[in-house]
Amino acid sequence: MPGLTIGDTIPNVEADSTRGRIRLHEYVDDSWTIIFSHPGDFTPVCTTELGKMAAYQQEFDKRGVKLLGISCDDVHCHNEWIKDIEAHTPGCKVAYPIMADPNREIIKELNMIDPDERDPHGKPLPSRALHIVAPNKQVKLSLLYPATTGRNVDEVIRVLDSLLITSKHKVATPVNWKPGDKVVISPSVSSDEAKKMFPQGYESAKLPSGKDYLRYTNVP
Ligand code: BEZ
Repeated sequence: MPGLTIGDTIPNVEADSTRGRIRLHEYVDDSWTIIFSHPGDFTPVCTTELGKMAAYQQEFDKRGVKLLGISCDDVHCHNEWIKDIEAHTPGCKVAYPIMADPNREIIKELNMIDPDERDPHGKPLPSRALHIVAPNKQVKLSLLYPATTGRNVDEVIRVLDSLLITSKHKVATPVNWKPGDKVVISPSVSSDEAKKMFPQGYESAKLPSGKDYLRYTNVP
C-alpha cells in the first residue's frame, strides 16, 4: 500500500508526548497543523531544527498553526533533550509537543521512515518528513528530506503562506513566490469568471502561443 501522501486523511494515531497523551485528530482539531519527524534525540541536525521551529513559534501562532514534532525515543529522553535544544538556540522555548514513538508505529503510519537509516539496534529511523495538514485532516503538502539534510524553516513558513492563500482563493503561487509578490489565477478559472472574481484586475503574460493562461494578480 502506498504511504500517506498529499490528499490523504491522516490516521488518528495515539501516543505519549512531552505535553501528555495525544490523539492526532483531536490535536489537529480545526487548525492547520505541521507534523515533523526527526531521526533521533540528541542528534546534531535535529537539535538545530527543533530549536529553529521553536524560535519561529510566534510566526506559527500568528497564522493559527499548531506544531507537532515526532522522534523515536521516549518522553523522558525527549524532555532531557529539550534542555539541550533550548540552550543551543538561546531565547527559544519548545512549547510544542514532541511525540514519542519508540516502537516506530507512528512513523510507519505517517510514512515517515527513512529506508537508509537504522539505529544501532537495527530498528528503522524516521526521515525528516514534514506534513502540513489542513483543518479537515488532509495532508496538503509533504516535504521529505534525508537525515543528513536539515530543513529550512523560512521555506516551511513560505509554503504555509502559499497554502493558506490558495485554500481561500482560486489562485496559485508561482516559482520563488514570497508574501507580497503577485499570485497567478488558477487555470480552472475562465476569463469571464476571472474578471468577476478579481475586481482588482489581472495582467496576462504575452506568450508566443497566444494562450491566456498565465495571469498575474495581487492577493485578493
Ligand atoms: C542528525 O540529526 O544530525 C542526524 C541524525 C541521523 C543521521 C544523520 C544526522
